[in-house]
Amino acid sequence: MGRLVPTETTEQAWCPKVYQANAGFVPTLGAGVMEWLSPRAGERILDLGCGDGTLTRDLMDVGAHVVGVDASESFVSSAAERGIDARVMDGCDLLFDTEFDAVFSNAAIHWMSDPPAVVSGVKRALKPGGRFVAEFGGHGNVAAIVTAMQAVAARFGVDPALAHPWYFPTPDEYSDLLSQHGFVVERIALIPRPTPLPTGLRGWIQTFREPLFAAAGRDRDEALSFAESLLERSLRDRAGRWTADYVRIRVEAHAVDHAT
Ligand code: BEZ
Repeated sequence: MGRLVPTETTEQAWCPKVYQANAGFVPTLGAGVMEWLSPRAGERILDLGCGDGTLTRDLMDVGAHVVGVDASESFVSSAAERGIDARVMDGCDLLFDTEFDAVFSNAAIHWMSDPPAVVSGVKRALKPGGRFVAEFGGHGNVAAIVTAMQAVAARFGVDPALAHPWYFPTPDEYSDLLSQHGFVVERIALIPRPTPLPTGLRGWIQTFREPLFAAAGRDRDEALSFAESLLERSLRDRAGRWTADYVRIRVEAHAVDHAT
């Protein structure tokens, strides 16, 4: 069994190739939030948490002038290789002022540790009247997987915080946060989205929650098998295919003034 976790193993690391193999579906599922954004040629758009730039390129293809930011250097390098103006920047510490017609974000905000700082930076980055359109993990996202990982943490003696590092708000909670920072919420919804996992639960864990299992040290494989055994009745079908219990929150809000 494991022991207390060394801090260097708690960092989430990103490898664009591994991400593409195990979670290439994430940008593909961004079509709905793209529709809410409806980008137009000539607009200046910030892609917050651009990852490897798959959706950023789609924004550029409609003729928008796009800047992508991500906290991961490896993702920013991948995005830059695709011809994107991509910059390493922490979403909790955005450095833009009154520059963008829209801020767009897909599958990134749940990783950002200080949601009020993110919303405040988005507001500052927007021109007055600009729009913020985002989709990320909503309340109840991957609830079964999180519960299984909490059981893994208890059984293998690792920090339970490693089982759930994310921010998955309800629409009420996120609407309040946006209103407090000078936004008017036009629409917001929770979207249950059972999501097939092309490389199974292990591929998902390798991509999104390796720090928990790495912390089990020599027991890593046993911990993975334990998680699978807890989840197979609910998330694996008779043909052996895994489906994750995703729930997204999608929002469109407008910046009302520039006072925050
Ligand atoms: C995602 O990035 O899509 C994600 C991350 C953590 C939990 C669920 C989804």
